[in-house]
Amino acid sequence: MAYYIGADLGTSALKLLLTDESGAVIKQTSRSYPVQYPRPAWSEQHPADWWAAFADGVKDLLQGVDRTAVRAVGFGGQMHGLVALDASDAVIRPAILWNDGRTAEETAYLNDAVGREKLVSCTANVAFAGFTAPKLLWMQKHEPQNFRKICKIMLPKDYMTYRLTGVHATEYSDAAGMLLLDVEHRCWSEEMAALCGITTAQLPRLFESYETVGTLLPEVAEELGLLPAVTVVAGAGDNAAAAVGTGAVTAGACNLSIGTSGTLFIVSDTFAAGGGDALHAFCHANGAYHLMGCMLSAASCNKWFCEDILHTTDYSAEQADITPDKLGENHVFFLPYLMGERSPINDTDARGMFIGMRADTTRADMVQAVLEGVAFALRDSLERARAAGITVRESTLCGGGARSPLWQTILANTLGVTLRMPTVEEGPAYGAAMLAMVGDGAYPTVQECAAKLVTFRDTVTPDAALTARYERAYQKFSRLYPAVKQVYKVLKED
Ligand code: XUL
Repeated sequence: MAYYIGADLGTSALKLLLTDESGAVIKQTSRSYPVQYPRPAWSEQHPADWWAAFADGVKDLLQGVDRTAVRAVGFGGQMHGLVALDASDAVIRPAILWNDGRTAEETAYLNDAVGREKLVSCTANVAFAGFTAPKLLWMQKHEPQNFRKICKIMLPKDYMTYRLTGVHATEYSDAAGMLLLDVEHRCWSEEMAALCGITTAQLPRLFESYETVGTLLPEVAEELGLLPAVTVVAGAGDNAAAAVGTGAVTAGACNLSIGTSGTLFIVSDTFAAGGGDALHAFCHANGAYHLMGCMLSAASCNKWFCEDILHTTDYSAEQADITPDKLGENHVFFLPYLMGERSPINDTDARGMFIGMRADTTRADMVQAVLEGVAFALRDSLERARAAGITVRESTLCGGGARSPLWQTILANTLGVTLRMPTVEEGPAYGAAMLAMVGDGAYPTVQECAAKLVTFRDTVTPDAALTARYERAYQKFSRLYPAVKQVYKVLKED
């Protein structure tokens, strides 16, 4: 018997799975930690909280199981975050996260002064505020004393791998989101590093996701109660890990994730730049590539509206009054831009907005508008992929939002796509465990591992009449952001 640990370093919590080599989930647990918002649109976390969550979670995960059977660990994790380490590998300042919008100026400098063409020729992508490179420029300008101390620039889940193994490593799927990687050639771009005031010596060593980075440091093995021979694979950015965990590993396959962020992930065998201002062209965890659209607030919109505004955690009760006849007929619309938006509008100033409220608008209409607004905004990214000649008729769906049958129906009919829900809901953590299995030799390739392990519990097929209703609603939605875009500039004025 061999056991594998798959970890997902999420934004709201760390999720841990213990699986055996047949893919059966033996145990799972999670530990949450806070996000700090020190200023509007800023978003930070303390890497020490991630480690504390992991150390505590692993002890719980291994209670009552044969720990000597654990062979390998893999991490999936929130992408793009900047973890800066000094000469003694101490964390210099809190990590600046993927949904942090402080770098509007630096992003504009990269896209407009350096130029989109230059960025695409070096990295295959344009700059977005959440990416790591603009954060380095921000730090150079606003915290020069911290910037001068940087010896290694790490991504969140790579910091965890470093704490486990002592190796400064990353892998292509996550590195692609730094805007420092030459995605096509799978190597660091010296030119981009120089533009950001760093050298590639400050960047971690690159691996494929399923490659082994090292074994546990003896003191860490002792702390966690594992054998020092346990190996750690390089892992993947959470979206690539989720794609592995949901079986989206062959060309043309698609995975949608409705977590804190909402993502559309389309697998490609070959490199293709050209996501433009809307989509990202990144490396996949199976050695290939993918295109991705990422919205910054997805399930987090529903969480915000239910928990912070309505003061309830009973999401199903809030959805109970949204009967089938109401779908596609809502008079209220919600723009889900609570943290600004990445794909496809790339606008740090955008904000959340309810539009169309009437005297007879109900609480349920507003909850429905939130669920629909997320689906419509994801459709915006899908339309960019379709415009690039990509056909998506079927997709897997994962993330916390995927648990709501109502949201599944809204998504399937808004997107016009058949959705398949995997049996194991924790896509990124399961994918990370699968990468650990491949690294350990239990399966020869990521594709073969996915073909054997991933099964589905449910399918939702779009209904012709409902899709037509949602098409009309989407056509209205798609005219709202262009119409209110200028309002966000007004809101920003002093
Ligand atoms: C992807 C992205 C988010 C985070 C969330 O580009 O920024 O999906 O990875 O964890």
